[in-house]
Amino acid sequence: MNVYDSARMADVLAPLGYGPADHAEEADMVILNTCHIREKAAEKVFSELGRLRKIKTARAEAGQRMILAVAGCVAQAEGEEILRRAPFVDIVLGPQTYHRLPEMVAQAARAGGAVLDTEFPAEPKFDFLPEPLAQGSSAFLSVQEGCDKFCTFCVVPYTRGAEYSRPATAILAEAAKLAQGGVREITLLGQNVNGWHGDEGWGLGRLIRALAEVPGVERLRYTTSHPRDMDDELIRAHAELPQLMPFLHLPVQSGSDRILAAMNRGHDRDTYLRLVDRLKSVCPDLALSSDFIVGFPGESDADFEASMDLIRQVGFVQTYSFKYSPRPGTPAAAMDQQVPEPVKDERLAQVQALLMEQTTRFNHSCVGREMRVLLDRPGRHAGQLLGRSPYMQPVHVKAAAHLIGTVVNLRITKVHPNSLEAIPA
Ligand code: 5AD
Ligand code: SF4
Repeated sequence: MNVYDSARMADVLAPLGYGPADHAEEADMVILNTCHIREKAAEKVFSELGRLRKIKTARAEAGQRMILAVAGCVAQAEGEEILRRAPFVDIVLGPQTYHRLPEMVAQAARAGGAVLDTEFPAEPKFDFLPEPLAQGSSAFLSVQEGCDKFCTFCVVPYTRGAEYSRPATAILAEAAKLAQGGVREITLLGQNVNGWHGDEGWGLGRLIRALAEVPGVERLRYTTSHPRDMDDELIRAHAELPQLMPFLHLPVQSGSDRILAAMNRGHDRDTYLRLVDRLKSVCPDLALSSDFIVGFPGESDADFEASMDLIRQVGFVQTYSFKYSPRPGTPAAAMDQQVPEPVKDERLAQVQALLMEQTTRFNHSCVGREMRVLLDRPGRHAGQLLGRSPYMQPVHVKAAAHLIGTVVNLRITKVHPNSLEAIPA
């Protein structure tokens, strides 16, 4: 989502004459787009600001201005704190106000004082953003933002605000524009993307069905989903639409019912497993990935083992795993029985080792298989192109450059540490 937001900020600033710079040293403006999800991400902002301060001062001494902005969820959550700790920052803006960047830049340039805008404005920013420029053959399209789920560990409902769905007509128009610009694969984005809903009972399944009809759109993905919002129509879309890739990121967070309840996830282990069974029964080649948190308050060895067991049982082919990080203002941060750091470290290492094993096994199971690969860039070696399999694995193949931007049939021949090798099928 932050990658998408950064690209949109660049779009809004382009009419003012701003374009991307390679180094902060030569930039008239630097925007730090930040993440507040875990403490480590949030703390990085302050160390990065220290580094940028030096560059800003050096530029000022050479008579050149640098506008320094902090955007994203750290700005949303800690705006005042940023201005206090880093008074050399010119603009602080939340994720819902970046369509107002041009005004903020003008204000900062005029007044010289800091500008703070972390409102949740009534007008949706999407109504004010210019059309995204298609770049390459794969693009993100934001369809939904915010979250009403309030998992007890998570800051997203506070930083991104309430769930909001963009209208289907706007999404379909944007998809058509992207496809006309050469995009072949669209990844629908949202914090709760399958919570998306349109008028007259439209859900994400129906939206995906409509997007599959857009000329030029060959592949569709969506991320990130909540198990609770996985409805029949969306499951049917997996069964019936070849454009919808058979790879689903469906975070479960824990395999223990006790912990799932304490997390306020709104589903238990069994419900999740039954959902996975249904998905796999309609789409047998579906592979799943997930997010796991280890060391949530009160997580015992047995709870942790339940997560390990779930990972084996579902056979996740990829997972993102995190040590629980207490976030200010969230219910879990105030819970008793916080898990000691060394225990978290040990559990994280175990989860990651298991997942590495499962990812490797899955990659090897792909050898000999034919796959449709979207070739999207030149490879590292001459005459080689790089693309993505339906499962997001990087695939390289000897092929002519004019095939960039097309989906081709390849046979996987070999597994490398970070990619698969293929030949034309
Ligand atoms: N600590 C650790 N991980 C977290 N996540 C969200 N909040 C926290 C937290 N406080 C993880 C969840 C989520 C992913 C985006 O980040 O696993 O799915
Ligand atoms: Fe955070 Fe996702 Fe839970 Fe929403 S559903 S509170 S974004 S983890």
